[in-house]
Amino acid sequence: MLIPRHIIGPKYGNRVTVKQIARYLTGTGNTSKPRSRLAFAFDIDGVLLRGKNPLPAAKEALSILDGNNKLGLKIPFILLTNGGGVSEEERCRKLSSQLGVQIHPDQFIQAHTVLKSIVHNYRDVPVLVLGGKSDTLRRVAEGYGFQKVYTTLDILAWNPSIWPFHDLTQEEKASVRPTDFSKVQFGAIFVFHDPRNWALDTQIMCDVIQGIIWGSYKTNHTRKHVDLVFCNPDLIWQSDFEAPRMGQGAFRVAFQAVFQSLTGSTYPYIQFGKPTEATYNFAEMMLKHRLQGVSKPLLYMVGDNPESDIAGANAAGWKSILVHTGVYDPHRGPPSHQPTYQAEDVAEAVRLALDQEFC
Ligand code: G3P
Ligand code: MG
Repeated sequence: MLIPRHIIGPKYGNRVTVKQIARYLTGTGNTSKPRSRLAFAFDIDGVLLRGKNPLPAAKEALSILDGNNKLGLKIPFILLTNGGGVSEEERCRKLSSQLGVQIHPDQFIQAHTVLKSIVHNYRDVPVLVLGGKSDTLRRVAEGYGFQKVYTTLDILAWNPSIWPFHDLTQEEKASVRPTDFSKVQFGAIFVFHDPRNWALDTQIMCDVIQGIIWGSYKTNHTRKHVDLVFCNPDLIWQSDFEAPRMGQGAFRVAFQAVFQSLTGSTYPYIQFGKPTEATYNFAEMMLKHRLQGVSKPLLYMVGDNPESDIAGANAAGWKSILVHTGVYDPHRGPPSHQPTYQAEDVAEAVRLALDQEFC
């Protein structure tokens, strides 16, 4: 069957066969159930949500991907955020109700999800997990396979004089795991999500790294190196407040400034989250899985933050679309990292990519 030009656009001259379209769309000649070569990774804050509120264009964008497009094609997508703080399952439940579309954990990556790929190095090593509310992230870390997980609230409960400016609330007291930390030698500190108490967490990170907790400080026991891992480098992010807010990256800068003032040097750390290669490799693996192995996949990242979304996608060799509903404000000049395209919002971004790739 030949298809007229105005249906399929200029790319194919006047007439082409369904088989040629199927080959282009799916990388296979199979016309029975065309599958898309195109797939999207969507950032969340500033693209789909502002704070707790879905952005108006979000539902339209997801409905286009759900087959409401001129090719009637279902187009795979994942959500790729530097946010975090709860389990993937819990966040997907919340997102599904906010966006009105079922979001499944195997299409969702948050800042600390990538730690699943390194947990084998720390399975029974005592680790300190920072961020989020009370001990929510202890449970998330144990869900990933970490077996000896402590929080800064556990340490404060063990010795309140370690930070005299915070009294544990009832909720926090209920979350702590009584432990004698003079017997715990930490192997790593993981900053999963934005700490709620920067001062307490900064004090205890400095103490753990310098062996003050463990007592080698006094006795000069050989101090074991403590790995320091941050999961989200964002200095700023877009919430429902009109101006961008400080992110986990700002906490890292603050910690390093204090540590340097105390010790004369900053402390080496490992960074995950967008734009890091580790996180984009993890995302590419998940996208290719959803594309069920079609050849020559067309991967698009749609984001609001040039530093994380666009820089990472460009470095991964994907196409990128920068939207104007979040951190990046086009009135403040060109973006720090050049996207493939720009768009007002996520729905315009999806339509633009479909037009570019299918027309
Ligand atoms: O804390 C989350 C923030 O840093 C950015 O989230 O969804 O824009 O990557 P997102
Ligand atoms: Mg964002």
